Amino acid sequence: MSDQNKYKRYTVTSALPYANGPIHIGHLAGVYVPADIYVRFLRMNNADVIFIGGSDEHGVPITIKALQQGVTPQDIVDRYHGIIKKSFEDFGISFDIYSRTSNKIHHETASAFFRKMYDAGQFIEKVSQQYYDEATGQFLADRYITGTCPVCGYDKAYGDQCEKCGSSLNATDLIHPKSVLSGNQPVLKDTRHWFLPLDQYEPWLREWILEGHKDDWKSNVYGQCKSWIDQGLQPRAVTRDLDWGVKVPVEGAVGKVLYVWFDAPIGYISATRELTPDWEKYWKDGETKLVHFIGKDNIVFHCIIFPAMLKGEGTYILPDNVPANEFLNLEGEKISTSRNWAVWLHEYLEDFPDKQDVLRYVLTSAAPETKDNDFTWKDFQARNNSELVAILGNFVNRTIVLTHKYFEGKVPEPAEFSGPDMVTMDEMKLFPDRIATSLHNYRFREGLAEMMNLARLGNKYLTENEPWKQYPNNPGRVATILNISLQICAELTIVGEPFLPFSMKKVRQILNLPSFKWKDATRLDWLKPGHQLYQPELLFDKIDDGAIDAQIRKLQKTKESNEISQPKVPVKPGKDAVQYEDFAKMDIRCGTILEAEKVPRTDKLLKLKIDTGLDQRTVVSGIAGFFKPEELPGKRVCILVNLVPRKLKGIDSQGMILMAENPDGTLYFITPDEGTVNGADVK
Ligand code: 2FM
Ligand code: ZN
Repeated sequence: MSDQNKYKRYTVTSALPYANGPIHIGHLAGVYVPADIYVRFLRMNNADVIFIGGSDEHGVPITIKALQQGVTPQDIVDRYHGIIKKSFEDFGISFDIYSRTSNKIHHETASAFFRKMYDAGQFIEKVSQQYYDEATGQFLADRYITGTCPVCGYDKAYGDQCEKCGSSLNATDLIHPKSVLSGNQPVLKDTRHWFLPLDQYEPWLREWILEGHKDDWKSNVYGQCKSWIDQGLQPRAVTRDLDWGVKVPVEGAVGKVLYVWFDAPIGYISATRELTPDWEKYWKDGETKLVHFIGKDNIVFHCIIFPAMLKGEGTYILPDNVPANEFLNLEGEKISTSRNWAVWLHEYLEDFPDKQDVLRYVLTSAAPETKDNDFTWKDFQARNNSELVAILGNFVNRTIVLTHKYFEGKVPEPAEFSGPDMVTMDEMKLFPDRIATSLHNYRFREGLAEMMNLARLGNKYLTENEPWKQYPNNPGRVATILNISLQICAELTIVGEPFLPFSMKKVRQILNLPSFKWKDATRLDWLKPGHQLYQPELLFDKIDDGAIDAQIRKLQKTKESNEISQPKVPVKPGKDAVQYEDFAKMDIRCGTILEAEKVPRTDKLLKLKIDTGLDQRTVVSGIAGFFKPEELPGKRVCILVNLVPRKLKGIDSQGMILMAENPDGTLYFITPDEGTVNGADVK
C-alpha cells in the first residue's frame, strides 16, 4: 500500500445524516457505500482504521419537524436515529461506532472546542439585527421564517434558502417575511452572535488546498473549493438563537446554541472519544490519515469551514482527502425527501431482504463519482440479471457444481499446466494490485469493474476449455481446469469482499475457506488438492419483471400524489415557423464551464468562463437564482457563440448558454451527451 509508509493509521468519517428522515439510495451511493468499501479494504490490509458514523441531531429542520408533529425534537431524533442505525446495520455498513450528537459526550466535546477558540480570541462578536416574533418572544433562526423569494418570487422560501430556485438567502432578503411560529410579521431586533472570521483563513486555505491539494483532491471538490475561495470568504456566524443544540458556553449567552454546522463535524471527534479512550491518536497525530466521505452539498463545510475550525483550535490534524461525490438522481429526477421521491433503505430491505449486495453493486457501478448519475429500477434489474447472476454467480456456481460432479466436491490435483492455463494464472495475479490502486485513489467504480473482470476471466476460461466435454477422455485436464477455476473463486472472495461482503462470505463458506487478507490475494494456492467443498448455493437470483414493476408503481403513485398537491402549469404555446436558413445562422457549440462567479451587486447574474472548443470566453448569464457558482465548474453546456457581444454590468458577454425553462420558471442546462467534445457543432 503506497501510503502505508506515510501514514500509520486511518480515521475515516462519513457525513452524519440529519435524524429527521430515513436513509435513501442517494445517501448510500454518495457516502456510505464508498466509505464502507474503503474501510473494509483497509481492514483487509491490516490497517489501524476507525470508521465513524452517527446522526446529526441538531439544527432547525429537526425542531420544525417536531413543531409540525406536535412532539419534542428529542422524540424526532430518537425515532429516526433508531431507524437509520438499524438500516445501516442490516445493510452491512461496518461502522466502528454509530453515535449521535445529542449525546452528553458530544455536547461536552463541542462545547470545549468552542470555548478553547473563544478563549483564544478566535471569534468576532457582533451585534446584528435579526427577526424576532413578538407573539412568542423568540428570535427566528433560518427556517423559522418564510416569505417570498426575492430571486424567483416563490412565496414559501425559507430564511436561509429558497427550495424552488436554490438561492441561498438571508432572512432579511425575504419579501413579506412571516414567522413559522405565529404566522405574524416579525420585527427586527438586536442580537449578539459569534462569527468565525473565515476571511482571515483565506491565505492559509489558498496554500493548503489550492496549492497543496491540486493534484490529489477530486476535481469536483477542488473546483468547488477554488470557487468559494476566489469569491472571497466572509466571517460566518457560528451561533444561533435557538433552544435545541449545544448551548453556547459563554456567560450571558442565554437562549443561544452553536450553529448545527459548527457542532456536527465535531461529532466525528466526540464519536471517536466515545469509541476509545485512545481517541487522540486518531485526531492529533500527524501520522493519521483523516478522510471525510461526504456528498457534494457538504463540500464547503468539510473542506473550508471545519478545517478552519481545526486549524484555529490548533491541536488537530486536517483531512488528507475529502472524496465527495456528486448526486444520484432517481428515474431522471432529483431525489427529494419532502416529495418522497426516493428509494428508502429500510423499505428496500423489507422488499429485498437478502439483496444487500445487489444494491451495493448497483450503487457502486452507477456511483456519481465525477458527475450526477441516475438510478433506475430497470438498470437495477439489468445489472442484477446480466452481471451479478450471469457473470459472477454463474462462474462461481458452474465451478463448484462441476467440482462436485467430477470430483465429489474435493479440490482436484492439477495435472500439467498448458499455455492457456499459464496465461490465465498470470492474468489472475494482476487484479489485486490493480483493484488496490483504484481503491486507494477513491475510484470505486473502477475497482468494482476490475473485480468483475476477474469473474469474466474465469467465465471465459471455463467456456473456452469446456471441462464438460473433456471429462470422458481426459479427466486430468479437467482436474487442472477446475483447480484453476476454484483458485479464481478463492481470489474473488478476497478482492470482492469490500464490495460484496455478504456474497463473498457465502462463497467462502461454500469453499470452506477462512477470510484472507489482501496480501494473500496473489498467492493462487488457497485451495489445496483434496480440500473438501460444501454444496453449491445460488449466490444471486434473477429479479423478475413483477418485482421491478411493483417498485416503479410505487414511484408512480408518489408522482401522482405530488402532482395533485402541485397543480400543473401549462407549457408555453408554440412559436411561428422559421426557415432552416435562419436556424442555420446560429453557431452553437458544446462547451464546458471552467469558472463561475457572481456578478457583484446583482441577484441574477453569473459571470462564466467557458471553453467553447474555439476559445475560452466570458459569458454573463442570468442563472444565479438557480445555480450556485461553486457547483458549475466542469458542467457541460451548449453555447451560442456568434451572438453579437454585449456589455452587462460592465462585463463583455460573448455568447449565450442554452437553457431549458420549465413552465414553472425553473431553469435547466442543456447538457451535451457523453462523447461530445468541446467545440462540437450543435445542429
Ligand atoms: O447534510 C447533512 O445531512 C448533514 N447532516 C451532514 C453533516 S456532516 C458532519 F459535519 F457532521
Ligand atoms: Zn427562489
